[in-house]
Amino acid sequence: MSRPAKALIDLDALRHNVALANGLSPHSGTMAIVKANAYGHGAVAVARAIEEMVPAFGVACLEEALELREAGIAKPVCLMEGAFCPDEIAVAAEHDCWLSVVNREQLQALVAARLSRPVKAWLWVDSGMHRLGIRPEEIVDSHAALNASSNVADGIVLATHFACADELHNDFTRQQLSRLQAGMAGLPEQPKVPLSLANSAALLAWPECRADWNRPGIMLYGSSPFPQSHPEADKLQPVMTLVSSVIALRDVPVGESVGYAARWRAARPSRIATVAIGYGDGYPVHAPDGTPVLVKGQRCPLVGRVSMDMITVDVTQLSEVTLGDEVVLWGRGLSVNEVADSAGTISYELLTRMPRRVPRIYSA
Ligand SMILES: Cc1ncc(COP(=O)(O)O)c(C=O)c1O
Repeated sequence: MSRPAKALIDLDALRHNVALANGLSPHSGTMAIVKANAYGHGAVAVARAIEEMVPAFGVACLEEALELREAGIAKPVCLMEGAFCPDEIAVAAEHDCWLSVVNREQLQALVAARLSRPVKAWLWVDSGMHRLGIRPEEIVDSHAALNASSNVADGIVLATHFACADELHNDFTRQQLSRLQAGMAGLPEQPKVPLSLANSAALLAWPECRADWNRPGIMLYGSSPFPQSHPEADKLQPVMTLVSSVIALRDVPVGESVGYAARWRAARPSRIATVAIGYGDGYPVHAPDGTPVLVKGQRCPLVGRVSMDMITVDVTQLSEVTLGDEVVLWGRGLSVNEVADSAGTISYELLTRMPRRVPRIYSA
């Protein structure tokens, strides 16, 4: 393959991040979130690399779970939005998936299903995100209904999701926790109902949210959920490094423009490198002039609009640049958060929308 645009996936860094997640909450189970193709990193390769380190995986839909099963991943896989239609319930049970219950309709469908074996259920509570989940006042009845069903295995997990855990001074996380706890009054004391609360941000920064199951996603891939430095998040290692190389070089005189819409114009005699990466490779089309790009390890500014297959970078400051020199768009040496920030988006989006045409190259 000769096109130089590639996503280098560092599986050692992935394992380092998983170990960090496990270490933060050593008495919990880590459900590694591998939905959206493991945030663009390749779900099968990621799951294989960490299967020995985590007791379960979390995905968004049955198709994502079956992809893991077809690849031989045997650990439980939780469908975090539940079954999208009743037919999926039996398929999920057959493949030893854990099934979320996010509303009364899903609960009724699960209880009414004809299953060859019971499934493990996760009952989701809407504690303030107002996206999915039953109301806190419905916890006791819903739990009892699931508990009484022969379709449901022992150990129903009660789960909720935080809206603002990445905001370290926002009290809403504690409010969500209190609402959940209020709704839990009246649940059987024994056996204790297992809880799952924390995404990456909560796991890293809200110790009171570490529970029986944590559900880290973005941190496993080495991107901090926080805009600011954080003692634990700063230990994360980037897993994906998006690289390409210089495929053309030219001198652009003062006053000449570069790229579509002539967005950027040279204010000084400029050396411009054309790099084989574009929005067709997942590089953000809205990246403005000045977005950092590493050329031969040195930060240089993007100049001109991002094309489908190419970007242009001002390398005037570099003493020597030649065709074929390596360029890093994000990853090792340049955080994906910084690039996302510059382009007005978030690392989650940049990582998850990495298209298929960018080959993933796995190391270790
Ligand atoms: C229900 C649920 N749990 C956990 C996660 C993982 O979140 P993060 O990637 O912020 O750790 C997500 C991600 O969207 C989610 O929807």
